[in-house]
Amino acid sequence: MSSKVKRTYASRSDQFKTDTPTPLPSPFSSASSGKRKWPFDELHSQVASAKRVKGSNSKLKSKQKTLKQLHFCIDQSTVRTCTACKLTYTKGAEDDEALHRAHCARVQRGMEWGKEEERDKASAGVKEIPNRVKLKDGKKGRVICVDATVGGKIGSKLSTLLDTINVALSASALSPEALRASKAYLFLLPAITPNKEKIVGCILAQRIENAMMIASPSSYGSENDATPSSRPLVTVDDSSGLFCYPELLPTALGISRIFVTSAQRRKGIASCLLSAAARTFVHGCVLDPKDGQIAFSQTTGDGLALMKNWGQGGVRIYDEDHC
Ligand SMILES: CC(C)(COP(=O)(O)OP(=O)(O)OC[C@H]1O[C@@H](n2cnc3c(N)ncnc32)[C@H](O)[C@@H]1OP(=O)(O)O)[C@@H](O)C(=O)NCCC(=O)NCCS
Ligand SMILES: [Zn+2]
Repeated sequence: MSSKVKRTYASRSDQFKTDTPTPLPSPFSSASSGKRKWPFDELHSQVASAKRVKGSNSKLKSKQKTLKQLHFCIDQSTVRTCTACKLTYTKGAEDDEALHRAHCARVQRGMEWGKEEERDKASAGVKEIPNRVKLKDGKKGRVICVDATVGGKIGSKLSTLLDTINVALSASALSPEALRASKAYLFLLPAITPNKEKIVGCILAQRIENAMMIASPSSYGSENDATPSSRPLVTVDDSSGLFCYPELLPTALGISRIFVTSAQRRKGIASCLLSAAARTFVHGCVLDPKDGQIAFSQTTGDGLALMKNWGQGGVRIYDEDHC
């Protein structure tokens, strides 16, 4: 499974880097090799020399400045975790707040798909998946598909979207190799602004070789329980108690990322994207999750519920870094 990272843009890719000023050396730091004089030390030496002066030459007394005790107040409360997008950021730090605002809007309402994207569609090889989709709330949307390594304007939009999803899932970025084997399926809904749509759902579907079958709850117990193959079960997720049989079985399609904006969940968007990938990923062959032809690499609580519902227990698990 992908290694977990903190939900913050601290380790963000270059496009998120901003010109933050170099931090001032901390008076508490002991990292410097040569002995530097910090303001704190200077303050102490001023106090010491002031004392010496006081004892030896009282004529200078009137010239002395009154020294004040300084207090350092380290306020932990400036670090916030947003309840809407779960991002941790520093309140009061302009760059951090701006990054959070942009991330939060993308997580809740999605990114825009407008005229420029429509214009570049053909050159970017964007394919429309037939059938307009009616959601549970009656709204109609459409699904498009594009190679994950697409360039140009659509490529940079997709890479921002994938960064947002990675932060939201606390997942690391996919390797270039995995991206080359992937297609992105996007769900577009008409926006309030005329002639514009919002990307409200995205899945990344990847060609894979093999995956593991999820162990039935009756096989659960200790990790050393014997499986039908007499080998220990593989722990996928301790917290949700998800285990797999260790055998790697031939599997055609892996879903490495799946995300629906928080304002549009439980309307059937993820299921619709998964079905579109199952129908179209392999040309001329419809894949069936019930037969174990599709696997997931990420396993959040929401994702597991979706996986069970959509895959009817047949979805497998794969390691996106070694597949
Ligand atoms: C997981 C996620 C993609 C589901 O998207 P969605 O569009 O809401 O899913 P669907 O509407 O197609 O759900 C289909 C069914 O799956 C199950 N399901 C989906 N999300 C669920 C949830 N949060 N809790 C319980 N059941 C859920 C339900 O049975 C649902 O049918 P119902 O709404 O009629 O009960 C979305 O919640 C999400 O983006 N979460 C954050 C990112 C994430 O966790 N990704 C998964 C990585 S594995
Ligand atoms: Zn937020």
